[in-house]
Amino acid sequence: MADLKGIILAGGLGKRLGPLTKITNKHLLPVYDRPMIYYPLSTLVEAGIRDILIVTGGQHAGEFLRLLGNGQAFGLEHLNYTYQEGEGGIAQALGLARHFAKGSRIVVVLGDNIIEKSIRSCVDRFRAQPRGARVLLKAVPDPERFGVATLKGRSITEIEEKPKKPKTNLAVTGVYMYDESVFEIIKTLKPSKRGELEITDVNNHFIRRGELQYDVMKGWWTDSGTYDSLIRANILAARKAGKRISDLLKNPQD
Ligand code: G1P
Repeated sequence: MADLKGIILAGGLGKRLGPLTKITNKHLLPVYDRPMIYYPLSTLVEAGIRDILIVTGGQHAGEFLRLLGNGQAFGLEHLNYTYQEGEGGIAQALGLARHFAKGSRIVVVLGDNIIEKSIRSCVDRFRAQPRGARVLLKAVPDPERFGVATLKGRSITEIEEKPKKPKTNLAVTGVYMYDESVFEIIKTLKPSKRGELEITDVNNHFIRRGELQYDVMKGWWTDSGTYDSLIRANILAARKAGKRISDLLKNPQD
C-alpha cells in the first residue's frame, strides 16, 4: 500500500486573533521560538510522513513559501502548497487536497494545533486499520470550545461541534486520519450555522458507517487560535524547550 500523505490546514482569516492577523497569517505568528506552522509540520515529519501539502489562504499565502521553501529545515526534499479562497471551513480546505491525495490515505493536522508528544504510534495504528478514519481525543477543561466526543466502550457514538452543554470533556483534537472516501463525503456536506463545511460532519459520517476509530492523545495538546490559547501554547512550548516560566517573569525590582 502507498504510504500515507500529510496535509496541514493553514487557511482561514484568523478573525479570532484580530488585530494580530491583520498583517500576517495566524499560522505564521510566533509560538515561543518558532512560527506556529513549524509545530504541525514537525508532528507529521516525526510520524514518518514525508509527502506533505500545506493548504493556506488569505493575503499572506506567499509568506509560507518564503518561510518553508521545500522544507529543508525539516529534512524534506519537497513541500506542496495549495490555496483556499475565503473561509469555507476545515472540510472545504481539506477538499482542496483531493488531487494531491490521489487515492492515498491521509493524516491531516490543523495548522494551529500544538502537540507535545509524538503521534507516531497512533499513525501506525491507522496504517494497520483496514479502512475508515481515526481521530485523537484529549480530555480538556473547556470542551465547549471544540468538537466533543461521546464514547461507548471502544466506539465513538457521536461528535458534537462546540456544544453549549458538552456530554463529556473529550475534545476531538485537530489530528484526523482518513481513507480516500473522505473526499466523496466532503462533496455531500452542507454549510453549518457558521457558514462553514465542518470537519465534525465528516467525522460523524464515518461514525454512522461504523468506521471511526480513536486514540487518546498522550502529553499536552492545545490549539492556538484565540488570545488565551495562543499564550498558553507559548508557555507550553517554552516549558518544553526547558524554560522555567517563573524565571522568565522574574523582575529585579521585586
Ligand atoms: C476546529 C474543529 C473542532 C476541533 C478543533 C481542534 O475548531 O471544528 O471540532 O475540536 O478545531 O483545534 P475551530 O478551530 O475551527 O473552532
